[in-house]
Amino acid sequence: MKVAISCDHAAFHLKEAIRAHLEERGIPYHDFGIYAADEKRDYPYASFYACQAIQAGECDLGIVMCGTGVGVSMAANKMAGIRAACCSDYFSAKYTRAHNDANVLCMGERVVGAGLAIELADVFLDTPFEGGRHARRIAQIAAIEGGKLAPESIE
Ligand code: RB5
Repeated sequence: MKVAISCDHAAFHLKEAIRAHLEERGIPYHDFGIYAADEKRDYPYASFYACQAIQAGECDLGIVMCGTGVGVSMAANKMAGIRAACCSDYFSAKYTRAHNDANVLCMGERVVGAGLAIELADVFLDTPFEGGRHARRIAQIAAIEGGKLAPESIE
């Protein structure tokens, strides 16, 4: 598993904490920047670079950060095949993998501290997709993306 990480200028320190943690756990990652606290980047680019790597199959999952986590999740979810979840609680970070097969975790440096963010990243990376009935719903998300969601059928 390889993880794409990226951030805007509002989340450099959080990205560095996540990077150090991945390093400590020996999890391969690609750091798409930014690379210094005084560097500036608009958050859509943070999403774009990391999610491009996922689309290309170069990375499997992403952790993308901005001030709130919301901006990067909005931008990431515009990209085909990307299911980004903005999380600040453990339950959501776990079940967005298990049920939504989320491939990008978004977090906000102004929302979560590094300690919690690391817990969220760990549970996100360590939780497998459950498949089964959830796979059908993921296919429905993809159908919306492709502009052809079938009429609803209630079972
Ligand atoms: C940047 O100041 C801030 O707007 C951005 O990091 C993010 O919070 C947007 O959603």
